[in-house]
Amino acid sequence: MSGDTNKFYLVQPGGKLSGEFRVPGDKSISHRSIMLGSLAEGTTRVTGFLEGEDALATLAAFRSMGVEIEGPDDGKVTIHGVGMNGLKAPEKEVYLGNSGTSIRLLSGLLSAQNFELTLSGDKSLSGRPMKRVTDPLALMGATIASNEGKPPLTIKGGNQLKAIHYDLPMASAQVKSCVLLAGLYADGETSVTEPAPTRDHTERMLQGMGYEVKVDGSTVSLKGGGKLTATDIDVPADISSATFFMVGAAIAQGSDITLTHVGINPTRIGVINILRLMGTDISLSNERVTGGEPVADIRVRYAPLQGINIPEDQVPLAIDEFPAIFIAAACAEGTTVLTGAEELRVKESDRIQAMADGLEALGIDAKATDDGIVIVGGMIGSGEVDSLGDHRIAMSFAMAGLQAGGTIQINDCANVATSFPNFIELATDAGLDVSEIDG
Ligand code: S3P
Repeated sequence: MSGDTNKFYLVQPGGKLSGEFRVPGDKSISHRSIMLGSLAEGTTRVTGFLEGEDALATLAAFRSMGVEIEGPDDGKVTIHGVGMNGLKAPEKEVYLGNSGTSIRLLSGLLSAQNFELTLSGDKSLSGRPMKRVTDPLALMGATIASNEGKPPLTIKGGNQLKAIHYDLPMASAQVKSCVLLAGLYADGETSVTEPAPTRDHTERMLQGMGYEVKVDGSTVSLKGGGKLTATDIDVPADISSATFFMVGAAIAQGSDITLTHVGINPTRIGVINILRLMGTDISLSNERVTGGEPVADIRVRYAPLQGINIPEDQVPLAIDEFPAIFIAAACAEGTTVLTGAEELRVKESDRIQAMADGLEALGIDAKATDDGIVIVGGMIGSGEVDSLGDHRIAMSFAMAGLQAGGTIQINDCANVATSFPNFIELATDAGLDVSEIDG
């Protein structure tokens, strides 16, 4: 269970990754399948749903608002949609655990309901910035109280929203989605312009459910007052979860791994582009489209890595993958420099600082900068690192074990269950010597 700070990983050094695996379903798409399926007319059948704590928090939230949802059962979820205005007031505060996507998207979606409710979360979520969503929602006419710009958020019921045009101050799919979901209920046409392309799963799923969404360059717009029609949703495997295995194979000599049915939406493939620039041998096969999302099988074979200057246009396209990419950088020859990534400081942890500290603890020269990091490739040693309860930091350092000189202990790992509940099992099957210990 998340919040259990005593769970730690012990990783024994060496090994390589091999085999064919399907990692769990995409977290972003799983959240959206529950949200839009709940608001749709008719029954939405989801397959490949991520049974991780974050997506389950979204599922529980909609159940608490009166939506009948069957499952999850082996990735299958059946949602009996209640229509755009069919949600009911929850009996108590809606607790969203560790999940930023849940709270930010729900704040938009729930801004125009006729009931008041409170959205809350765990310690990490309670420290994350919410002004980025409450500011545009206030412009639309919503009334939201927060704890000095942080959760919990209390949303007043009964407000009629008006459409706005919003220029996103930062590249954020959560903020874009929040405004668009509020826009479903607003009078007139809501539009959002983003400074750089971010994941477009909300737009794609809305369109897949028959809602007209216009995309014109970097601006997305939709008119309020429409309806959603239920559809089947096949959730691809999460490229963010696949990333740990891609990096593991990229750093461990002799590795050859295939990850099947992975989502390769162009707004998510920064990790493929960056690892290729560093020299990794990556090939895609079996490319197809399922439920409006492109997927492929990804084969990764070891090849020597070089340090690079990471192109800034790749930053939003790889935003969740940097902790793992930093492990690749630590194993590369030469220096890797990341800039333009200040958003990493406000994720589940301050990922720049957490990774710099962990890498330093393992003997790698890694210097945090305001908006990125400078990592000089070298020999990863043994030691103890703190994941700060951040799932992606924990899994990234686990993969570092493949190239380490001794045992690595990673503390505070329970939150791996938010996005990748069977990580230990799959990583072990692939060739990593990692064990989970309840301390
Ligand atoms: C997400 C958007 C990203 C990402 C997060 C999931 C989404 O956050 O980091 O894990 O599902 O929309 P930001 O919008 O804060 O960049």
